[in-house]
Amino acid sequence: MAYSQKVIDHYENPRNVGALDKEDLYVGTGLVGAPACGDVMKLQIKVSKEGIITDAKFKTFGCGSAIASSSLVTEWVKGKSVDEAATIKNTAIAQELSLPPVKLHCSLLAEDAIKAAIADYKNKNF
Ligand code: FES
Ligand code: FES
Repeated sequence: MAYSQKVIDHYENPRNVGALDKEDLYVGTGLVGAPACGDVMKLQIKVSKEGIITDAKFKTFGCGSAIASSSLVTEWVKGKSVDEAATIKNTAIAQELSLPPVKLHCSLLAEDAIKAAIADYKNKNF
């Protein structure tokens, strides 16, 4: 199976790899796994007092598509409100990266991870 140029680009130059302080009240952490393949993704957001995502980091132990999906999502969420970020759909990620059907669950992992990060942030703050 051939990866698209965009997947290869994000895989070779992943954006926003790293971690934020989990104890920070304004940091939300999402940790999700894909039952289908055992891949794991951690995605974190830093939210301003106004509710805007100012930073995002990820660590993904998984395939190229999962790494590319999480890298892309960290780019997409920056500057968005948490409620806007919560509407990101895996289909949009898959379309942007031209993922084939067998790799759709990799983009779903990224959608689940951002939702989990937002839920964690809301648990801490509301
Ligand atoms: Fe092998 Fe995802 S199934 S890395
Ligand atoms: Fe399982 Fe990509 S996350 S193959």
